[in-house]
Amino acid sequence: MNIRPIKVDDLLGMQACNLQNLPENYTMRYYLYHALTWPSLSYVAEDPKGRIVGYILAKMEEDVGPDDHPHGHVTSISVLRSYRRLGLAKKLMIQSQEAMSTIYRAAYVSLHVRRSNRAALSLYRDTLGFTVKDIEKKYYADGEDAYAMRLSLTQ
Ligand code: ACO
Repeated sequence: MNIRPIKVDDLLGMQACNLQNLPENYTMRYYLYHALTWPSLSYVAEDPKGRIVGYILAKMEEDVGPDDHPHGHVTSISVLRSYRRLGLAKKLMIQSQEAMSTIYRAAYVSLHVRRSNRAALSLYRDTLGFTVKDIEKKYYADGEDAYAMRLSLTQ
């Protein structure tokens, strides 16, 4: 499996992957905004035939308060079911985190995840070292709470 930065041609494949894997979906315009504004922060995993089997869609946070530091944010990550537990999500996260740190000098990376999402929580907390910064009540459209998580990129 190959991991590489996204191209505009990939966006439909990423959207298809997102629709299969997650209830949080985005307009094509939002994908395009990420790809054009922060082209080095989003990546795809493709199979040998060039089909997209996973993606990370990420950005730099635009609403940074006076007391906050520049930081990256993972909008969405997913891997197709039959390609899971191969280390793809870990690689996608690390590629994006490295670009946030080296290109944009991000102090940390943030994301939201459902409280019930055990696979993703294990990836973030146990594999990558994220910690829970806050619990955002009823963050999701169906009323589920989110963990707001962070990982420092300065060490
Ligand atoms: N159960 C427990 N731990 C898991 C699981 C699981 N099902 N899946 C991954 N992990 C943990 C393990 O520690 C794993 O390491 P190990 O395999 O050595 O034990 C580690 O995460 C790395 O796993 P990867 O193989 O890199 O993860 P994968 O490529 O399978 O993708 C993902 C994980 C993205 C969570 C996948 O299950 C998925 O697409 N789920 C549906 C979509 C989703 O929930 N996306 C995240 C939403 S939050 C957001 O987008 C910011």
